[in-house]
Amino acid sequence: MTGILINGEWQAGRGSELRSLNPATGEVLWAGYGADEQQVREAVAAASQAQPSWYLTPLAERKRLLENFAETVQDNTSELAKAISNETGKPLWESTQEVTAMINKIAISISAQQQRAADHSEVQWGLQHRPLGVMAVFGPYNFPGHLPNGHIVPALLAGNSIVFKPSEKTPAVAELTLQLWRAAGLPPGVINLLHGDASVGRALINAAVQGVLFTGSYRVGAEIHRQLAGRPEVLLALEMGGNNPLIVDRVGNIEVAAWHIIRSAFISSGQRCTCARRLILVANNANSVFERVIQILPQLQIGAWQEEPFMGPLIDEQAAMKVLDTQKKLLQIGGRAKLLARHRGNAFISPGVITMPGVKNLYDEEIFGPLLQVYRVADFDEAITLANDTRFGLAAGLLSDNISHQEKFLQHIRAGVVSINQPTAGASSTLPFGGVGHSGNYRPSASYAADYCAWPQAQTLGTATHEQQPVIPQGFMGGANH
Ligand code: NAD
Ligand code: SIN
Repeated sequence: MTGILINGEWQAGRGSELRSLNPATGEVLWAGYGADEQQVREAVAAASQAQPSWYLTPLAERKRLLENFAETVQDNTSELAKAISNETGKPLWESTQEVTAMINKIAISISAQQQRAADHSEVQWGLQHRPLGVMAVFGPYNFPGHLPNGHIVPALLAGNSIVFKPSEKTPAVAELTLQLWRAAGLPPGVINLLHGDASVGRALINAAVQGVLFTGSYRVGAEIHRQLAGRPEVLLALEMGGNNPLIVDRVGNIEVAAWHIIRSAFISSGQRCTCARRLILVANNANSVFERVIQILPQLQIGAWQEEPFMGPLIDEQAAMKVLDTQKKLLQIGGRAKLLARHRGNAFISPGVITMPGVKNLYDEEIFGPLLQVYRVADFDEAITLANDTRFGLAAGLLSDNISHQEKFLQHIRAGVVSINQPTAGASSTLPFGGVGHSGNYRPSASYAADYCAWPQAQTLGTATHEQQPVIPQGFMGGANH
C-alpha cells in the first residue's frame, strides 16, 4: 500500500481527501488522503531521529546510495516519465527529459558539493560543513520529479533528512519517486512523504524543522516567509516565479529567432518558471521575426502526451480558465489580440499573443500559461528599462546579433538566469538557478544548492596541551597587589 511515507512505512493519510486527475481526460489517477497534524509531527519526528546516523554515515556511503537512486531511476525511466506525463499532461519527450535531469542531478550535486562545500583540514585549522537537520521540501506541479529532487539530492548529500510535501496536484509522481528512493536503499526515516494542501504545508513549517526549501509561486513563498517571521534559525530557500522579458533586436536568422521565441514562451504550455512572458520588440528591427512567430503558432500541435505534441494541456481546467481570464484583463487594459488563446476542452488552451500598445501600467503578475504579451519600444535602452520594470527577476533573454547590445544587456539586466540567442527556458543544472526581487531570496538552487544545505564550522586546532607552554596575556600581573 502507498499513501504517505513515515519512517519507511507507507500508511493512509488521516487528513482531507485528495484526488489527482489526468488533465487531458479528466480521469482520476490517484485518490487518497492528505496527512493530519499528528502525522505531520510523526514524519518530522521520524526524520529527526534518522538524521544523526545518516549524517554520521560516511560521505562515500551517502554518495553510493544517491548513485543507487540514479541507477534505479534510470531503470524505471519509462514508468516514471509516463507517470509525469499522465499527471501533468506533458508530452512524453518532455517527461523523459525531466527524468534524465533527475538522473544527472546526482553526479552534478556530488561535484557541486565538492566545489562549494568540501571539508578541509590543515595542522592548525579545519573547515567542516555540517547539515542543518530536518529539511522540509515543497515542490511545484510543473516539474514534479526534477524540482523537488533539486533540493532533496543536495540536502541528503550534506547529511540532512527530508520531509517532502509535493504539490497536491501531483501526488502519484511523488509516491513513485519515494518508492524509487526506498528501492535504492535509503534508510527508513531519512526521507518521508506527506501529501496534502496548504494546511499540511503550514503544519509542516510550524513543526520542528531546521530548513524550508521551497519551489513555487511568489504568493506562497511570501506567505511562508511571513509564517517563519521570528524564527531566524530556520533556513529558508525560496525559488519563485517570474515575469520574464525577452528582448528582440536585429537578428541575422529569422527562423532561428522565431523558434527561440516559441520555445521560450510556449514550451510546457507556458508552465515553466523561466518562460518568456513579455516580448519586447526593438523599433522595427524585429518585425519579420514577430510576423514569423505569428505564422508558426497556429500550426503547433497541441494534444495528449501519447501523441507527442509540442504542447499538452495545462495542469487543470481551473489553471486554463485563469489564463483565459487574464487574457480578458489584458484586453480590458488596452491590449489587442494578435492571436487569441482559446479553450480547447478539458485543460487545453491554444497559445495567445496580446500586443500592449501604449499600455502605461505594466501587468506585473506571472501568467503561468501559454500567453505572451508584446511591447514595442523605440530603442535598445528603452528595451532594457522596460525589461527591468518588474518586481520579479528570474529569467531574461536577448535575441540580437549586435555585440555591444549583448554586452549592455549582461551589464544592466536584473535577473538571475539570463540568455543570449537561446530560449529563456531550459536552464542548466550545472549553474546556479535563482532569481532576485520577488523571484527568490538570494538562495539560488542547482549548482549552488550545496550552500544552503550545510553550515560551515571553522575550527582552530591546537596540539595536545602537554606539548604547549602557557601563553600568559600581556598585562597579567600574576596576582601582585598594588
Ligand atoms: P504553489 O506556490 O501553488 O505551490 C508550491 C507548493 O507549496 C505546493 O506543494 C503547495 O501545496 C505548497 N503550498 C501551497 N500553499 C502553501 C502554504 N500556505 N504553506 C506551505 N506550502 C504551501 O506553486 P505551483 O502552482 O505548484 O507551481 C507553479 C509556480 O512555481 C509558478 O509560480 C512557478 O513560476 C514556480 N516555479 C518556480 C521555479 C523556480 O525554480 N524558481 C521552478 C518551477 C516553478
Ligand atoms: C522551471 O524550473 O520551471 C524551468 C526550468 C527551465 O527549464 O528553465
